[in-house]
Amino acid sequence: MESRTLIKEVLTTPPSGQEMTVMGWVRTFRNNQFIALNDGSTLDNLQVVVDYESMDSEMLKKITTGAALKAVGQLIESQGKGQAVEIKADNIHIYGEADPEKYPLQPKRHSLEFLREISHLRFRTNTFGTVFRIRHALSFAIHEFFNKKGYFYIHSPIITGSDAEGAGEMFQVTTLDMDNVPKTEDGQVDYKEDFFDKATNLTVSGQLEAELAALALGQVYTFGPTFRAENSNTSRHLAEFWMIEPEVAFADITDNMDLAEEMLKYTINYLLEHNLKDIQFLENRLIQEEKSKPQHERSPMPLIEKLKFCTENEFVRITYTEAIRILRNSKPNKKKKFQFVIDEWGADLQSEHERYLVEKHFKKPVILVDYPKEIKSFYMRLNEDDKTVGAMDILFPGIGEIVGGSQREERYDVLLKRMEEMDIPVEEMQWFLDTRRFGSCPHAGFGLGFERLMMFVTGMSNIRDVIPFPRYPGNA
Ligand code: 4AD
Ligand code: MG
Repeated sequence: MESRTLIKEVLTTPPSGQEMTVMGWVRTFRNNQFIALNDGSTLDNLQVVVDYESMDSEMLKKITTGAALKAVGQLIESQGKGQAVEIKADNIHIYGEADPEKYPLQPKRHSLEFLREISHLRFRTNTFGTVFRIRHALSFAIHEFFNKKGYFYIHSPIITGSDAEGAGEMFQVTTLDMDNVPKTEDGQVDYKEDFFDKATNLTVSGQLEAELAALALGQVYTFGPTFRAENSNTSRHLAEFWMIEPEVAFADITDNMDLAEEMLKYTINYLLEHNLKDIQFLENRLIQEEKSKPQHERSPMPLIEKLKFCTENEFVRITYTEAIRILRNSKPNKKKKFQFVIDEWGADLQSEHERYLVEKHFKKPVILVDYPKEIKSFYMRLNEDDKTVGAMDILFPGIGEIVGGSQREERYDVLLKRMEEMDIPVEEMQWFLDTRRFGSCPHAGFGLGFERLMMFVTGMSNIRDVIPFPRYPGNA
């Protein structure tokens, strides 16, 4: 195909009447003269000016919002206000029409709820174009961060036979005929007949495989899709989400917190440096959207200020025990305003508690460490008090938990005992225990929910709006 210049480039090229070819989708067509053309390379549209007297009138009728076209013409200094350059079209070719009577996207503000119903077209809006350009940049920044630090990217499997979190929230993978399930003599499903000769599921986390790799390659990370069949129909949960899971040998819980904080700051700074225009657009969008909300529901800071605040301040680090003390003495707890009132040490923290700590009490990102062993996973390292484990969660304003991680239990006997206590199938997990039998060492890692970070950096309030095709209960 004939080559084209990306609009992002056109807009920063000094105009000297040179000929250019651009291709994109019409956002608006004004006065039978001015096309606002967008090709996705940037938020900004390029103005293409047509001389309607010299153009075929049948062709002009096809220049409607949503149509795909090619324009060839001279790049000149813009005659009008609002843009530095424009293309004076000599030739227009329409690739694909978009019937204005039927095309669902019109040049006006559509609600996010409406756009979610037409997720196959929402890429074409300013908001979603921006969100997905940022999504690309953020994943790139994450790879860059780890690459610079000498970490290796490990591709953990998507189909697994184990439950990495031991929480039983898995989607089963099978080729058995659901209408005619083979049974064993004692009436159980006969997985020997299944594709893998055993029961399998979609992974909930790449951590266990990352541990195997870290105990050989030293420092690794995964970045892939993970799946949870938890029935959480909230604005912060997806059934299919992307997770970044670094795993580091010869590292303890403090190293782990340092790494997570450094990574978050690095990636946010990367966006402030490379995607400021997109973030500015989202900041303005948010200000507009929040105008209709009561004061107490509005964000305390504009988006860019919030991001800078996060990169410029040290995260607060406190123990779970300290957090419980703060929560118990808090106004909403005393006045029973929390849905789950905190009475005792050992209670699992709900998102209302996490958000209180971050948004009301500290007004900063907070790292909570040393949780009761009862409310955390089997692989976390038991502390000397025998009651808590070396687990850490990072809580962000407006989001709640964004990172969950821990130092791992590297002592064979202790791990085995924990697995037995927590009913983890020891027989099937011999491969995992082998790492503790042969050349075990202190190691640590964490999981960052990619979409949770996306929510933070874009200011989007629903996780379903930061992933192209969200999967959640009742929707795939
Ligand atoms: O806290 P989680 O369950 O931790 C793990 O999976 C560990 N294996 C990680 C590790 O140590 N390598 O999940 C980690 C993060 C959470 O902090 C959250 O940001 C995100 O994953 N997350 C979800 N994001 C979207 N939708 C869901 N249903 C999520 N569940 C967890
Ligand atoms: Mg967690």
